[in-house]
Amino acid sequence: MAPAPFALQPGTRVYVAGHRGLAGSAVWRALGARPGLELVGRTSSQLDLRDRAGVAAFMQEVRPDVVVLAAARVGGIKANRDYPLDFLSDNLQIQVNVMDAAVAAGVQRLLFLGSSCVYPKFAPQPIREESLLTGLLEPTNDAYAIAKIAGLLQVQAVRRQHGLPWISAMPTNLYGPEDNFDPESSHVLASLIRRYDDAVRRGDRSVTNWGSGAPRREFLHVDDLAEACLHLLEAYDDPSPVNVGTGTDLSIAELAGLVASATGYEGETRWDETYPDGTPRKLLDVSRLTASGWSARTGLAEGLVETVSWYRQQKS
Ligand SMILES: NC(=O)c1ccc[n+]([C@@H]2O[C@H](COP(=O)([O-])OP(=O)(O)OC[C@H]3O[C@@H](n4cnc5c(N)ncnc54)[C@H](OP(=O)(O)O)[C@@H]3O)[C@@H](O)[C@H]2O)c1
Repeated sequence: MAPAPFALQPGTRVYVAGHRGLAGSAVWRALGARPGLELVGRTSSQLDLRDRAGVAAFMQEVRPDVVVLAAARVGGIKANRDYPLDFLSDNLQIQVNVMDAAVAAGVQRLLFLGSSCVYPKFAPQPIREESLLTGLLEPTNDAYAIAKIAGLLQVQAVRRQHGLPWISAMPTNLYGPEDNFDPESSHVLASLIRRYDDAVRRGDRSVTNWGSGAPRREFLHVDDLAEACLHLLEAYDDPSPVNVGTGTDLSIAELAGLVASATGYEGETRWDETYPDGTPRKLLDVSRLTASGWSARTGLAEGLVETVSWYRQQKS
């Protein structure tokens, strides 16, 4: 790995695409804690990143030094199953427009957020970065994954063709403040929080979750992701994407137990095995990230208590 070419110092102008989303808002908060950075953000209603001419004009006007590309169309299993075309098309357009405009505006440093779903369904566990493009994808979110893989390749192509030190990170499953709790499009952890919180408020004596509870997954607090992004912007310069996770996983049944405890739920948990489980295990190998000098800090039980409290405040 070459020496890092960049320092986030006072006066550095950083555009965070998707600065109100789960990941982007955490990156925005972490950047805001650094003195003197100039932060730029636009909501999707101010600037739709699918609008190629609008994105090009914006980038020429703002001319950021750094871009964090955390804008994407994102969703859980149900949304991916029902809207594969939107996941493919929107994400390809967002990525191509932002990265082409950033090349044209001479952006020196860009961090693209990929996703652990880009790895093959049967990749050896824990999943190393080298597993990319070595096997078939999980069919339930293949359209989204193909779009994300195109983004990773675009970053590598910019490095080869223009010599710019752009990088990609592959976060594992994220959770924390600003997560999406919509029952139609949320990810597993947010949907569990919502379900158990509803049960507590209604006084239900049982909660039924989808699947068997056996699949194993990894969860990273978004504030940890944000710290990792800042670290990578300053310390990582390699064409290979870098996994960002905790390096430990747990079963969905164990996760449900932690969510039940964080919400104060004391009833029974049942599992509806007519729903599919998806990939049996998904854990990222984080040795590349650790070797670069960063590891996650927030314990899952602690992060869940904080996220439940944020969710309840939002609801009230
Ligand atoms: N959530 C996870 O568990 C997870 C895990 C691994 C990787 N990631 C990656 O992290 C990135 C961000 O995910 P997230 O969970 O933070 O998503 P999110 O909470 O849904 O936020 C997505 C952001 O993208 C913006 N956006 C979407 N479509 C847009 C458009 N057409 N024009 C402009 N902005 C648009 C939204 O802007 P507005 O709010 O203004 O509408 C929003 O701020 C994605 O690349 C995702 O693959 C997420």
